[in-house]
Amino acid sequence: MTDTLTIRRPDDWHVHLRDGAMLQAVARHTARQFARAIVMPNLTPPVTTVAAAESYRQRIMAALPEGTGFTPLMTCYLTDNTDPAEVRRGFESGVFTACKLYPAGATTNSDSGVTDVDNIRGVLEVMAEIGMVLCVHGEVTHADIDIFDREAVFIERVLAPLLKDLPGLKVVFEHITTEDAVQFVESAPDNVAATITPQHLHINRNAMLVGGMRPHAYCLPVAKREKHRLALRRAATSGSHKFFLGTDSAPHAREAKESACGCAGIFNAPYALESYLAVFEEEGQIGHFQGFASEHGPGFYGLPLNEERVTLVREECEVPAAIEAAGTQLVPFHAGETLRWRFQP
Ligand code: NCD
Ligand code: ZN
Repeated sequence: MTDTLTIRRPDDWHVHLRDGAMLQAVARHTARQFARAIVMPNLTPPVTTVAAAESYRQRIMAALPEGTGFTPLMTCYLTDNTDPAEVRRGFESGVFTACKLYPAGATTNSDSGVTDVDNIRGVLEVMAEIGMVLCVHGEVTHADIDIFDREAVFIERVLAPLLKDLPGLKVVFEHITTEDAVQFVESAPDNVAATITPQHLHINRNAMLVGGMRPHAYCLPVAKREKHRLALRRAATSGSHKFFLGTDSAPHAREAKESACGCAGIFNAPYALESYLAVFEEEGQIGHFQGFASEHGPGFYGLPLNEERVTLVREECEVPAAIEAAGTQLVPFHAGETLRWRFQP
């Protein structure tokens, strides 16, 4: 039995690092495990310009100790009014790595998101031309669609028509939660890939609702039925280069989660690799872990592989019930559980 696992340093292709005191508290958890991360732009106000992304990148670096070898990859938050020239300028100057499409109202700080993809047609044409990745929060937000069907309906009504229209556009279907999304990505050409979070590999919707309402298991897209979780586990551990690591670590203060209207988001950054590796081990696919964590993402984005190596040791790893941060507490994913692997910093 393998007792240590050494792999290329992984990257996180979807993370929320927040801003201000919360950024100060959480950035180091991501930088400890990952070399690079696609940083979500859903701040208030959202990161919609090259100048805002440059300044956010500087705040992230300032929140980390001097000499941390971490590279934040910045994203542009698309709105109905995004200027294609700003996107092109940001990409060509190396500030923007990708654009983020939030359907308006889909999730935390998505009020300024896109109300209809037709409104960003010019931006998407430029992105297809320059080979820039579109990161998609794949949920429709119409009141008449059941929340558990939002992702499947998004594929049918938005994503499939979009790719038909712009077949060359590079799309990351983010934090997928359904068998429908797995099948869509598997049968799409190579310019379509997906990220998968640790929580959607570990929990189904019962985790939120059985034995009481459990706000710390609530994130968006919401966890689905068991058959979907099993499809995600098969996809993530299959070795397919179309699926890669994106934690969607999304910290919210404990009191904002444990509330009459609790925020969506699971804070999984501190033990992300331990959490993913448990899944690969359970599926008997440890041999595919490095591809998922460290190779398929850079391959899709056209970025170099990390040369540095990291090691995980088979050793009990107790996840604390809470982590102090920004004058409050964050309840991490797996709080109070013991994981079987430990990341060696
Ligand atoms: C994210 C957040 O809190 O910013 N929440 C979440 O549940 N994943 C937003 C998002 O990615 O949907
Ligand atoms: Zn997210």
